Amino acid sequence: MSAPATQPAESQSSPGATGLFSVQDAEGRFAPQLPDDAVERGDRLCAQLEAGNILFFARTPFEISPTEREILLGQKQTSAAYHKNVAYRPAEDRVTGLDKSESAEAEQLRAILRHYSHSAAKFLGELLPAYAGNWKLDYASYRPIEERGRAARLHARNDLCHVDAFPTRPTNGDRILRFFTNVNPAQNRVWLTAERFESVAPHFAQAIGLPAPQRVDPVSSALRALARALRLPGGNRSPYDTFMHRCHNAMKEDAKFQQRSHKQRWEFPPDSTWIVFTDCVSHAVLEGQHALEQTFIVSRHAMVAPERSPVVVLEKLAGHSLTAAR
Ligand code: SIN
Ligand code: FE
Repeated sequence: MSAPATQPAESQSSPGATGLFSVQDAEGRFAPQLPDDAVERGDRLCAQLEAGNILFFARTPFEISPTEREILLGQKQTSAAYHKNVAYRPAEDRVTGLDKSESAEAEQLRAILRHYSHSAAKFLGELLPAYAGNWKLDYASYRPIEERGRAARLHARNDLCHVDAFPTRPTNGDRILRFFTNVNPAQNRVWLTAERFESVAPHFAQAIGLPAPQRVDPVSSALRALARALRLPGGNRSPYDTFMHRCHNAMKEDAKFQQRSHKQRWEFPPDSTWIVFTDCVSHAVLEGQHALEQTFIVSRHAMVAPERSPVVVLEKLAGHSLTAAR
């Protein structure tokens, strides 16, 4: 079950399993099997991602300076800033997850995360032209905590395989694409992936129950519009979002799924970067400390293989639409 991330694997070992696609060759050039044309190449890579594979870069494809790395690795390791994940909200140019007393760290982390966020978005826009301009730049984060043995309540545990769903940022069927970089100079970041969403969706649909279609009568629509205007929790949540959040929880609660699902282990070495749709690839992090991450919410309409999107998989099972017309 163990496979080093440095070993390219274009094909998947079983129908529900995640594979790894090395985008670069050993010299850092595009892998020889990729077309030279940027649009064709991008579409090939989008198809890999949408099939539930991980795009892997042995070397991070843009610069993170030695000073930035030094700051990230912790000048003041006793500070609370280094005991939590720190989130960066690009739209507001603001970091959250730090206390008032940590304003010096906050300013430094804000500058580093701003730079990382810009670099990741610029790089991904050039790599995947089909998605560029069709995404919302979601939060970036810095993950300074050792993941091995990290204590958390069950639904917050990231060492249990799950698909991602953000209860506070519903996507209405759009996709969650995440861009990770291991900035630890010595330690691999170790992941497990289990079966992809389309393989396990029937099981979890039965366990949780598929949501009914969203009611479109004038009263229900007006109530939803009001909840959205008042920014009430859940006001923006479609039946799809409700299902995906329940599925995230149900996977973590399901001991049989955790034990018996076919799993693969991936080791992401220092200074590597990997990109994955975490709403269809069930994943867990077992070990590692000091990672950066940028999330993109990509329009479902920008997919090169839309039928593989979790929302389409679920709508086929349900027999009706699970998203809200906005
Ligand atoms: C997760 O999205 O579950 C965590 C991944 C990581 O921090 O490596
Ligand atoms: Fe996750």
